[in-house]
Amino acid sequence: MRAPLIAGNWKMHKTSSETEEFITRFLSLVPQTTAEILLIPPYTSLDRAGRMLRGTGIALGAQDLHPEVRGAFTGAVSAEMLVDCGCRYVLVGHSERRHVFGEQDDLVGRKLCAALAVGLRPVLCVGETLSERRDGATERVLERQLDSGLRGLMPNAIADLVMAYEPVWAIGTGETATASQAQDAAAWIRGWVCDRLSRSTGDAVRILYGGSVKPDNASGLLALADVDGVLVGGASLDPSGFAQIVAGTGI
Ligand code: PGA
Repeated sequence: MRAPLIAGNWKMHKTSSETEEFITRFLSLVPQTTAEILLIPPYTSLDRAGRMLRGTGIALGAQDLHPEVRGAFTGAVSAEMLVDCGCRYVLVGHSERRHVFGEQDDLVGRKLCAALAVGLRPVLCVGETLSERRDGATERVLERQLDSGLRGLMPNAIADLVMAYEPVWAIGTGETATASQAQDAAAWIRGWVCDRLSRSTGDAVRILYGGSVKPDNASGLLALADVDGVLVGGASLDPSGFAQIVAGTGI
């Protein structure tokens, strides 16, 4: 049984005091649920959020990390620093990192290993651009991103990570994948894990959908057989909207 995961990626939004306001309000609104809730604020809010979330059952995650343990990497943040702030999860290979910052598949793979090495659970983001979808290349792109992202990892490490299918054309555009597009991609990813690793690993791994998830479309996406949660960007910035999405797990 895969527990649903509802994650809010704030991207470059909210100062540390705005984070405090959000969490205070969100805690007063969020319904009882067996779903796992994950907040992913910017680096500057992690420490404060980590302190506020302690004992609430809500998990904390970061948006990125550097693959090296330490060193002369101005502006970068290591996996160990994230753990120290209370992070349990970290996004790896988000499409904005790939397309705005030019991250390549091999760097994504190195970040994944660095996260797992300190016990952080990576959320590996994969997804095709609009032109790749139009060219019928969706599965080829997913395969390339999964192959290079997960190369060299032990099957037991993969059961620990979360996958997020995020079609690039649906992120921040207001255009959500249809139920069948989201289900087909999630099922394809699960099939890939079953084929390459094992049936039990494929059955256990959680696969999220992300891309213009809103309170009014979340429950439909969460009801899909192979979609085990959602990765929410814009709509996670509002505490009541995000609490409504959590309520959409229907539990
Ligand atoms: P969005 O972002 O919900 O604003 O489309 C999703 C994401 O980037 O994870």
